[in-house]
Amino acid sequence: MRTGVTQLLSDDALQVASQHVERSLGLHFPEPRYAELERALVCATNELDLSGPEALVGRLGADRLSQREIEVLAGQLTIGETHFFRDRPVFDTLENEFLPPLIASRRQSQPYLRIWSAACCTGEEAYSLAILLHRLIPDWHDWNITILATDINPVFLDRAASGRYRPWSFRSTPDWLQAEYFRPGPDDTVDLLPEIRRMVTFSYLNLVDATYPSPATNTNAMDLIMCRNVLMYFAPDRARVVVRKLVNSLVEGGCLLLSACEASTGLFEGLPVERTPAGFAYCRATPTPPALASPRLRESRARSRPPRADQEGALSRTQIVFKALLAKEASHPAIQDEQVDGEAGAAYERASCLYSEGHYPDAIRELQAVDDRDELSLAALVLAARACANAGELEQALSWCVEAIMRDRADPAPHLLQASVLQELGRDAEAVSALRRCLYLDANRVLAHFNLGNLALRKSDRKTAAKHFRHARDVLASCPTDSVIPDSGGLTAGRLDQLIVSLLKGLERDAA
Ligand SMILES: C[S@@+](CC[C@H](N)C(=O)[O-])C[C@H]1O[C@@H](n2cnc3c(N)ncnc32)[C@H](O)[C@@H]1O
Repeated sequence: MRTGVTQLLSDDALQVASQHVERSLGLHFPEPRYAELERALVCATNELDLSGPEALVGRLGADRLSQREIEVLAGQLTIGETHFFRDRPVFDTLENEFLPPLIASRRQSQPYLRIWSAACCTGEEAYSLAILLHRLIPDWHDWNITILATDINPVFLDRAASGRYRPWSFRSTPDWLQAEYFRPGPDDTVDLLPEIRRMVTFSYLNLVDATYPSPATNTNAMDLIMCRNVLMYFAPDRARVVVRKLVNSLVEGGCLLLSACEASTGLFEGLPVERTPAGFAYCRATPTPPALASPRLRESRARSRPPRADQEGALSRTQIVFKALLAKEASHPAIQDEQVDGEAGAAYERASCLYSEGHYPDAIRELQAVDDRDELSLAALVLAARACANAGELEQALSWCVEAIMRDRADPAPHLLQASVLQELGRDAEAVSALRRCLYLDANRVLAHFNLGNLALRKSDRKTAAKHFRHARDVLASCPTDSVIPDSGGLTAGRLDQLIVSLLKGLERDAA
């Protein structure tokens, strides 16, 4: 029963809204929270200038919400509560236990790190990580450091990208933080130092969508993912699927951190977790367990080779249910599948299943085992490259990209993927060449313009960055706002345009 508000919507309408909000945003609004849901629907209706909340519920129920409507609704339904170095024990554990050995080992092999703050809100968590790395790695300029920060609320993302904060963001933070890393801004605000601000890339990502893990969204092969204080607002089934996809976004040995209140609710069901002072952590083991979970994969294996009894027995019932659930949700390669029969076709089918379940090394093995590589389709070669990229096997990913390029020299997609991998390897000049080749084949590949802009930004070449971002906007101007950009893992034209607008604003701010 709702109390204290004028009831504008019937309980039936709210039930419809609740089901669809859960499906499109993951957020859980059971009956006791109907009053909150109604308030958010009314505010979103006003913001969107719709005739009344019933109209919004009608569009929700018919699955006809535009990207903008989803974002406005998300803005009304989500809670933007965060601050710098939130939960000190988390950052102390990262500083003293998790990061030092990782940094030491990467220093000896290849100096790179990949970190993701998922559901980053207004950016305090991501910037705290950047500051931590800045303190732990004195020569950080020579490293290839990725700090990706994503959220569903574009207003939060814009605020985050500005790097401007009010005193409330600094409650319970150490004294040195403001003195060393911020400069006074207008009124009672402070501005983060630009060199720290530029360490973080902000991007829109709905955790419910199938846009990750993927090199296209730069959400693959992460060393550390922090996804804190968000899944507690999700329906438990949704949250479990999100956890599994985040686990699949880790490189082997990588670590996923949830907050204690979330992880204790069984979100890691079926996965070995450790209770640490930083909350609950899951570290992706090496090697990945073999997968035989989804019915499609089981059938495919049964058709082509005798079953391996040892593997099925190794999976618990919950794991099997979990993986089957995930297989339904998982993303699929952007390149159109060609119909290939025989050994190569069957291997591709199995590898696709393994990939969608996050078993990248197994997917790679399936494709490597094909005797005649010429039999593999372009889609299979690209899948192999993606699986290697997701497993952090970047050199191997590059050689599959080259094979894919040789297979069809006129297709721009493998060049784009090759550029993402080169970018991850810090081979920026080669990445630029790959992107130019991609644009030569298709001048309207908007992601190539966008990535050229990002690469220029990395070199602090603001003029070139702005030029590429403007080209990307020119291409986007002719795309419907809700259309999904090829090879983007689900990013829409409208969202990318907003992202570019906020990057261009940042460039103007830097120039001022
Ligand atoms: C309470 S804040 C957490 C911020 C930060 N992680 C922390 O722990 O301080 C929750 C964030 O989750 C975001 N969020 C809610 N639903 C989301 C979804 N489906 N996908 C991505 N982000 C989402 C909200 O916009 C909000 O910024």
